[in-house]
Amino acid sequence: MRVCVLTRVVNFCALCYHTIMIDDIFSSSISYIDTVLCDGETPANISAAAHILKQGGLVAFPTETVYGLGADALNADAAAKIYAAKGRPSDNPLIVHIADVEDVYKLATNVPEQATLLMEAFWPGPLTMILPKRELVPDGTTGGLKTVAIRMPSHPIALSLIRESGVFIAAPSANTSGRPSPTTAEHVYEDMQGRIEMILDGGAVGIGIESTIVDLTGSIPTILRPGFITKAMLENIVGEVAIDKALIEPDPNLRPKAPGMKYTHYAPKGKLSIVETSDVVASINSLISDYTGKGYRVAVLASAEHADEYQCDNILTLGQANKGETIAAHLYGALRECDARSIDYIFSESFYQTDLGGAIMNRLLKAAGQRVIRDE
Ligand code: TXA
Ligand code: MG
Repeated sequence: MRVCVLTRVVNFCALCYHTIMIDDIFSSSISYIDTVLCDGETPANISAAAHILKQGGLVAFPTETVYGLGADALNADAAAKIYAAKGRPSDNPLIVHIADVEDVYKLATNVPEQATLLMEAFWPGPLTMILPKRELVPDGTTGGLKTVAIRMPSHPIALSLIRESGVFIAAPSANTSGRPSPTTAEHVYEDMQGRIEMILDGGAVGIGIESTIVDLTGSIPTILRPGFITKAMLENIVGEVAIDKALIEPDPNLRPKAPGMKYTHYAPKGKLSIVETSDVVASINSLISDYTGKGYRVAVLASAEHADEYQCDNILTLGQANKGETIAAHLYGALRECDARSIDYIFSESFYQTDLGGAIMNRLLKAAGQRVIRDE
């Protein structure tokens, strides 16, 4: 089969349009794949991406949270390619993306009433549910676990891709393992160029941090990863909700129930610290002066309220402290920008102030390896 793909950008310096044949994509060598970056809103490109998925290939696509790196979830060989492309530890399971609520029952058994209520309330959307898996879901997709993570995203390109391919799409965030998750197609290209067949460009994502993960295999729904859907929003629908203890107490003896939460994540190349002193601006200015004096390149992750008060060449403003959605949307892009500017040391304010504060600080603390500077 030969499918025409109109590609928008292959090289970000030289924007160009050209036509590629699907056969050409598959004839590229296994070790280096010529990655096609194309407009995700063009139906022919979604068809081409769907074809790649059906053939067991890899396609990155936008979701409302972050870009995902997709493969056929029921094809263990295809799922294995995700781990190779990301450099991801094999015990870290993948989320399976579906486009139809009914498909939950094809992938999971013992779906409790609470799960049904949560699906009705939050799907399609940024909520992932952990449920007991059916036999047909390969161990390679679930990292050997007997449970499966399922989510129905709301992004129209993601939904079209799932529907058109006819496969359930296993998709972690489309970053190299450890790096900040991608919120634009350009971020995906940076990490995945040469490793995957195609990237569907849907522009910048809306939310900017990954979905909330809720475990529904016990009697009380338990949050394994905080996200845009908050504990209060979940409790509003199903009553009591717990939080995985390992998320609250950073105790090395407690293993997080979501295997991925135990790894260093979202980390920029520079050393990131969060500053929580009584006078944050003065402390950060003093650190900037110390480190620039030693010849290092320094950046600040700032709230809009304080941005003008820093004496630094690299001030990255995440948004107003009381606008959690803006801060979440800018967080990963700012961490990547620090890498692009070859920053050695990054100092960040804390952003606890809003409903999304828990999710934002979970990511920021992980990116910082839990380094927090406090008053002595
Ligand atoms: O917003 C999102 O969820 C994005 C988009 C692409 O959908 N995906 C995403 O996937 O963040 P990933 O692979 O980066 O993170 C998935 C997390 C990992 O921490 C993994 O350990 C956990 O989900 N997980 C997956 N299956 C699990 C299971 N059966 N039990 C517990 N945790 C699981
Ligand atoms: Mg990830």
